[in-house]
Amino acid sequence: MDVSKPSVSNLCRYLSFLFVAYCVNESNENARLQRKRGVERFEVIYDWNYVNFTWLNADDYNLAIINGKYIPANNVISNVKFYRDKMYVALPRLFKGTPVTLAVMTNSGKYENNKLLKPYPSWKMNSLDHCAALQNVYSMEIDKYGVMWVLDGVRITNGTKCPPKLVLLDLKRQGNVVRYFDFPEHLSSVYGGFLTDLVIDEADGGFAYITESSDHDPGIIVYSKHLDKAWKIRDRSMFAEITASNFVVEGNQNSKLQNINGIALSPVPKNPNQERLIYYTPLIGVNMFAISNKLLKNQVLMRGDVWRRGIKYIGKREGVSDRMMIDNEGNMYYGILNLYGICKWNIFEPFITSKMIIHDQMEYIWPASFGMDNSGNLYVLSNSLNKFLQSKPPKSSDKSIIKVSRLYTGTRSYLYKNSR
Ligand SMILES: *[C@@H]1O[C@H](CO)[C@@H](O)[C@H](O)[C@H]1NC(C)=O
Ligand SMILES: *[C@@H]1O[C@H](CO)[C@@H](O)[C@H](O)[C@H]1NC(C)=O
Ligand SMILES: *[C@@H]1O[C@H](CO)[C@@H](O)[C@H](O)[C@H]1NC(C)=O
Repeated sequence: MDVSKPSVSNLCRYLSFLFVAYCVNESNENARLQRKRGVERFEVIYDWNYVNFTWLNADDYNLAIINGKYIPANNVISNVKFYRDKMYVALPRLFKGTPVTLAVMTNSGKYENNKLLKPYPSWKMNSLDHCAALQNVYSMEIDKYGVMWVLDGVRITNGTKCPPKLVLLDLKRQGNVVRYFDFPEHLSSVYGGFLTDLVIDEADGGFAYITESSDHDPGIIVYSKHLDKAWKIRDRSMFAEITASNFVVEGNQNSKLQNINGIALSPVPKNPNQERLIYYTPLIGVNMFAISNKLLKNQVLMRGDVWRRGIKYIGKREGVSDRMMIDNEGNMYYGILNLYGICKWNIFEPFITSKMIIHDQMEYIWPASFGMDNSGNLYVLSNSLNKFLQSKPPKSSDKSIIKVSRLYTGTRSYLYKNSR
């Protein structure tokens, strides 16, 4: 512990009116200095050996253990998103014994291990018994107005007969549902549909661009909130690349082929008429592509074939990557699964300037997704998905396998305006 720091900041607090230039906000200054030295300081703030919940009572819990409704080692976190003082968590039902698919906890900002997750908005909304409830969630995003767009679209496990859907929950009103949209079978199937990620574009009545990662019909689904309608585009750039499939994480070679998965949107431009780019990449693949939001919003154009010329090739990564995210300054963050690393690239620069800012085989095991709060922090979730996919989640619970790390960047998410 550096004991001199608190006293300096205390001094600054008292004398700030005298030392205006010297006493800049200390955490901003530290982050700035670290960036200057080329060191990005991530710290693990939450981790789990296994995920557990705030059960209503001991009877419910005991019953769930006995009847297998809850098998601690089978619960994996696939996404984290932030709003006010809360962290929201997606828990896909990939294996038996996952009682909850969307949950919340307080983002205390202090290190915590095995923090209990609270079903969100309620236990009832996490029940498999009725299709109005959330069935199997892989991803969500929170817009600037505190509405969470929840993708209830994991239909690769035959765990539910309910169609894949998008559900909008108002976080300011206890998670009240403000919109349900069921995806028709030809956009995402009840049998094999797999909605993995989304970004929100708040202009023109609100749009979501959603990755559909199914084996049989991958593509990008565009949902217009204003029209309450969806359409889908398909292209070979959205398929897995077989040449990238044999990567190794923790000694195990991957054997699956997963299609388009990561998606990121460039920040709100200063000039509202300027186009924005939607970046996308298959999970099994090393190439990244992009397409203009103006093209995707044009449903009529999407029926033809000419739009395909608008697909831009962005570049080739050092390895395979799960999801990615862009901040309001245009910095894209993405993980490299086979190198246990996080990369950063500014989208206003050539792709070759992308660099790995951290890698660590202990901390970044399957960097799966990113989120940002409104205090200038970026979060990365490393969820050891490789362990779960091996179908042998560690039975002993003496090691944390799911981690959320935080990096102060001083920026906000792509939902906010770019300063250029
Ligand atoms: C310094 O900046 C951090 C991050 O933006 C913020 O959380 C904190 O409140 C600021 N402290 C002061 C004294 O302004
Ligand atoms: C899970 O959490 C409940 C409290 O909600 C607690 O009673 C129970 O012992 C916990 N189970 C495990 C395996 O940690
Ligand atoms: C799910 O059900 C469909 C239709 O009955 C079947 O074709 C498919 O193999 C099943 N998938 C799994 C993963 O069990």
